[in-house]
Amino acid sequence: MTRAGGSYGSPTHPHVRSRTMRKNRLRLAGVLAAVLVAVTGPAAQAHDKPPTLADLAERHGRYFGSATDNPELVDEPYKALLGSEFDQITPGNGMKWYATEPQQGVFDFTEGDEIVNLARANHQKVRGHTLVWHSQLPGWLTGREWTATELRAVLKKHIQTEVRHYRGKVFAWDVVNEAFNEDGTYRETIFYKTLGPGYIADALRWARQADPKVKLYLNDYNIEGIGPKSDAYHNLAKELKAQRVPLDGIGLQAHLALQYGYPTTLEDNLRRFAELGLDTALTEVDIRMILPATEEKLAQQAEWYADLTDACLAVRRCVGITVWDYTDKYSWIPAFFEGQGAALPWDEQLRPKPAYYAIREALR
Ligand code: XIL
Repeated sequence: MTRAGGSYGSPTHPHVRSRTMRKNRLRLAGVLAAVLVAVTGPAAQAHDKPPTLADLAERHGRYFGSATDNPELVDEPYKALLGSEFDQITPGNGMKWYATEPQQGVFDFTEGDEIVNLARANHQKVRGHTLVWHSQLPGWLTGREWTATELRAVLKKHIQTEVRHYRGKVFAWDVVNEAFNEDGTYRETIFYKTLGPGYIADALRWARQADPKVKLYLNDYNIEGIGPKSDAYHNLAKELKAQRVPLDGIGLQAHLALQYGYPTTLEDNLRRFAELGLDTALTEVDIRMILPATEEKLAQQAEWYADLTDACLAVRRCVGITVWDYTDKYSWIPAFFEGQGAALPWDEQLRPKPAYYAIREALR
């Protein structure tokens, strides 16, 4: 159930930064002011506690969320911040196929349910992640050959059992995750190889049958900017819409890396999906760097977090932002990208980093 993650966030074309100096200076002033408020401490703020990221996002009709994972939920200070700062959570692993159908036809929703119950207690909405993906599949599924007829039945049953179980409990599903290669060709997954490209439309239709109301998404990384991979989604979305296949949105994971450049066409890209009548969401945001983290790198990271927040706020149909967990303590990055990390807005001691203050400023 491990995965090779080497290409997340790698560049598909050269990026040129387009932000003006004025904007950056304004931003810096805002961040400094926020830091000042933070260090002058509770006295200055005693009368009313500062709004959370969720509060600020809600003023724009957006959510601000975090991924979380079951093993972390014993960490009380972590859990307290997770419950207070965000209005949306995504299970990092608990709803994946290996966890939910560990034996063929034997379903186990304990991990996902734990996250859903936590979300309910904290008045948060939940993104379902994910139904169809080539990674973290159970051994019974990958360990043998399937005919198309067999695999279709297995896939349909998996999708419909899980979607039915979480009906009314999740607001959106990442129905198919990571379906394309960097060059915009279909990824040769077990589903593609056995069923052909039609598996995507089928998956969406099966999910819709099982929950008529939930928002259905396709989700991927390296599709933040305009390029061959996001073009593939744009073309597929157009076709699916023309065929009246139920598709509500495109999830842009946004696993960015300082060393690969900022996707400056993000806002234009969000807009072109909106023009197809689709929602978009930034679903798994983190901005990693080559360690050690320096003040400069953390400042650049803060600016990127603000820039992507601006981009989402600029496009009405960008419905929200989710960080892929909120603290470096529980980030997946160090385990998957050697020598990299410090990708999230809170550090390993749960202290807010410059990125946190920059997001706040952008949301004001
Ligand atoms: C990651 C989890 O965070 C890790 O705990 C796990 O070991 C591997 O998967 N894209 C996705 C997410 O869609 O499901 C991945 O999550 C990160 C990349």
